[in-house]
Amino acid sequence: MPSVFIKTYGCQMNERDSEAVAAQLVAKGYSLAPSEAVADVVLLNTCSVRDFAEQKAINKMRNVIGTARSEKRDQIVGFMGCMAQTRGKELIDKLPDVDLVLGTQKFHRAAEYIDELLAGNGRTKIVDTDAEARSEATVREHLLNGSAKMSVSAFVSIMQGCNQHCTFCIVPSTRGVERSRTIPDIVAECRELVARGVREITLLGQIVTSYGRKEQRGAWQVARDAGDSSLATRHSPLVTPFVQLLDAVHEIDGLERIRFTSPHPKGYGDDLVEAYARLPKLCESAHIPLQSGSDRILKLMHRGYTRGKFLGIIGKLRTAKPDMGVYTDIIVGFPGETEDDFEQTLSLCREVQFDNSYIFKYSPRRDTPAAEMPGQVPQEIREERNERLLNLVNEIAAKKYDTFIGQTVQILVEGPSKKNAARYTGRTRCNRIVLFDGSPRHQGQIMDVKVERTGSFTLYGDPAVVNLID
Ligand code: 5AD
Repeated sequence: MPSVFIKTYGCQMNERDSEAVAAQLVAKGYSLAPSEAVADVVLLNTCSVRDFAEQKAINKMRNVIGTARSEKRDQIVGFMGCMAQTRGKELIDKLPDVDLVLGTQKFHRAAEYIDELLAGNGRTKIVDTDAEARSEATVREHLLNGSAKMSVSAFVSIMQGCNQHCTFCIVPSTRGVERSRTIPDIVAECRELVARGVREITLLGQIVTSYGRKEQRGAWQVARDAGDSSLATRHSPLVTPFVQLLDAVHEIDGLERIRFTSPHPKGYGDDLVEAYARLPKLCESAHIPLQSGSDRILKLMHRGYTRGKFLGIIGKLRTAKPDMGVYTDIIVGFPGETEDDFEQTLSLCREVQFDNSYIFKYSPRRDTPAAEMPGQVPQEIREERNERLLNLVNEIAAKKYDTFIGQTVQILVEGPSKKNAARYTGRTRCNRIVLFDGSPRHQGQIMDVKVERTGSFTLYGDPAVVNLID
């Protein structure tokens, strides 16, 4: 059977989609190639969140095609995911050697289409970016043996799409409107993973805190129209469907840790804050996208919260769990951002002391309102603000990391480190990476390590003696 190589750009949702496609192809008898140079089929799973990500994938495709041509190798090549969704056939117009363009609601059709393309000997082209009902429930196959890490920690896709319509963001057009899987369906997938050895599950979606809202409203409507009030009483409106899902996943025996990404600050109601205190398996880690520290910019971004509201959420989370790891995303150089707005972002970072922040230079995306807004910030100012903010967040993060020296932290060991197989890697509950001299017997274990030193966003530890007994 032919071999496939999948290269993934972008977020964890994309990683998860690639894994599901790979698992689907393996189940059909395809093998996974170690590199694009030896693969019969090369798929690039793309990201559209910034122009840079799109250009990277397009350049990669040019390279793949060029090499195959110069070596006179037949290869099926395709784009899938977010850029495939928004650009569709245009990608084939640009790169006529591309055989397949597979949108974000069509991952489950990958094997069928590749079979067809291989049978057509390069004479056919397939572009499928249509919407498909219930596609949110199709990303479910796992490739647990694909890498050592996977068998300990797994991602589960709980929903697709986003209705927030932030003015900078292309996601509503790459992922569509919010559609959620049902709780029993998600729990069944999680149970199966745990039965296969998984100990940590990260629930994934573009806006997980909005999980099930639309469906719940729909169910209430149906029940109300039918004169049935029991549904409304069974699901207290004080507990959001997302927290109901966390409760249901939490009940799975053998599952040790639960995480989720990505949330929206507006989803951090009291029910979610309380869930951290109430559910021991829910790890003390929150990646809450801030985007800007200026109320004026937050409004232009259509984020739906203020600086004060954001600070309030962080305060509540740290009251519930003082060890909470707090991570964020920030955009610099959004249209209209003045030096004063930017300084408010700096001051918020000083106040919150994030454990880490991912900084993005604003990138205009087509068909988004911000791309047309007045006051586009010149590239050199975006660069300059990026550097200033990066210096600040790195300085804060490094200081925070240093406070761990000498402390004992609990980690879940994922497997050997990619760079050095003698080193094992694990994560603390608050999502910091820890490296230590480990061996295969440590894999999958929850153990204590004493932090000896820190590196760049890494803790180096020594297994605490008590846990060395097999
Ligand atoms: N330009 C720059 N960064 C962006 N992000 C989303 N859209 C854009 C854009 N147009 C960032 C946000 C988001 C992260 C995944 O990517 O910070 O949280």
